[in-house]
Amino acid sequence: MRSAKSSGLLVLAALLGSLALAAGPVPGKVGYIPFAEAKPILEAMAEALPAGLSGQTPEKLESLWPAWVKSRDAEIRERLTRGDEDTVVNFLLFGTSFTKQPRVTSEQLREIAGDTGGTAGEEAAGKFRQLVEKRVQDLVSRMSAPGNNERLIFARKVAERAGIKSTDEAERKKAARYLYENYLRVLKEQGSYQQVLGAAHSLGDPTEEFAERSKLYKERGLSLDTSLPPDFALEVAMAAMRERGILAPGSVRRVGIIGPGLDFTDKQEGYDFYPTQTVQPFAVMDSLLRLGLARAGELEVDSLDLSPRVNDHIERSRRAAVQGRGYTIQLPHEPSRGWKPELVAYWKRFGDQIGSPAAPVAVPASLQGTVLRAVRVRPEFVRGMRALDLNVVLQREEGPGDKKFDLLVATNILVYYDTFEQSLALANVQTMLRPGGFLLTNNLLLELPSSKMKSVDYVSVEYSTRETDGDRIVWYGRER
Ligand SMILES: C[S@@+](CC[C@H](N)C(=O)[O-])C[C@H]1O[C@@H](n2cnc3c(N)ncnc32)[C@H](O)[C@@H]1O
Repeated sequence: MRSAKSSGLLVLAALLGSLALAAGPVPGKVGYIPFAEAKPILEAMAEALPAGLSGQTPEKLESLWPAWVKSRDAEIRERLTRGDEDTVVNFLLFGTSFTKQPRVTSEQLREIAGDTGGTAGEEAAGKFRQLVEKRVQDLVSRMSAPGNNERLIFARKVAERAGIKSTDEAERKKAARYLYENYLRVLKEQGSYQQVLGAAHSLGDPTEEFAERSKLYKERGLSLDTSLPPDFALEVAMAAMRERGILAPGSVRRVGIIGPGLDFTDKQEGYDFYPTQTVQPFAVMDSLLRLGLARAGELEVDSLDLSPRVNDHIERSRRAAVQGRGYTIQLPHEPSRGWKPELVAYWKRFGDQIGSPAAPVAVPASLQGTVLRAVRVRPEFVRGMRALDLNVVLQREEGPGDKKFDLLVATNILVYYDTFEQSLALANVQTMLRPGGFLLTNNLLLELPSSKMKSVDYVSVEYSTRETDGDRIVWYGRER
């Protein structure tokens, strides 16, 4: 029989163990990129440096560096505010939970945004304006009594941050103006992206076009939107890496998802009828196991993101998993999108390595035709996930050598930065990867001679029958 003292010790050990798990995996130490690592980039890009750094002597640059990095970090994080406003505009246009008005479609929006000459006809433009105005009214009235609708609460918070309350009629008018003005801003930005893309396409050179697309959003607010197709493209890329002998079976143990995002109201279809979720970390785990590139029990996947909303979401999910609760992902499929059969097959198998089918939430009547499946990810795949608060342009995790990542993933994030900042991000990626490790991204990045990150190969993946609906996934290897 155990003595009272030894069983007391066992209880204490078990308690400490569960406290450690609840407190989470040991957080990484995040630090700013030191001047020594930025120096070759500053030298190579002397002509393209931002105000504050351009035209300075090397000595002056070195003394300016620590303060510049800190203030630039704050400026980049500030872009999240405008990204939140963009998200509210997507909710306004595509949402179904606060209005009976028909949803705007992404095609409609593209047409209106690209219609600088007014060829869509005044009647169509007028109808569209009326539709948006009605949606604005419905959203404002629901924002004043949001109940427990997380999206309405979020929209209200975003408006409050801009100094608008939803208390009385005058404030509600202000809120309506604020939403409409943001909608007009987004429309204008959309139009300018379409112009840049059109000009890039007319170059007639797919690589030049890819390079132009790769920094398209360098002025845009940082939004968190995410959707399933890029995760499919990542699986295709990793399968190609395995076929081409670049990734060996069972060789991937540590993975970092840079900017996993949150599915709130995605830009394509704008679903807003299921709880906010993150998908990419689970998608990558699922693919790695399916492809035999990683083994369950050995795989660690972390998130590296500067958004408090993303980080809080992951930390809350991790804590729930420590309590034994799995993570449910809703997977909508809209047959009229014309997805390629390979993407449909991916959607069907999604999650079979890390979870089991779950009952999806009900699809609203206005979305008849949308097919929904759901997967419940097992807690063991969630409870070890770290959510590192990290701005990859200026920061890196500074861990000991044996804790470097085998694989880092960055889709739809570097496109928010110009070439100089992308090069800084690549230097941070280099520091976080083990020699021989890879970055997978859907952007074309400048390869400076001083960088150890070299593009190895790529795959092009089509998502649907629609023109330019696809991605090119490039893998950059860290030289040994
Ligand atoms: C548009 S979402 C993309 C989500 C997902 N990767 C995808 O492809 O669907 C961009 C994500 O990157 C994050 N992000 C943007 N800039 C970042 C930075 N400098 N460092 C870390 N995360 C960043 C955002 O917070 C967000 O989670």
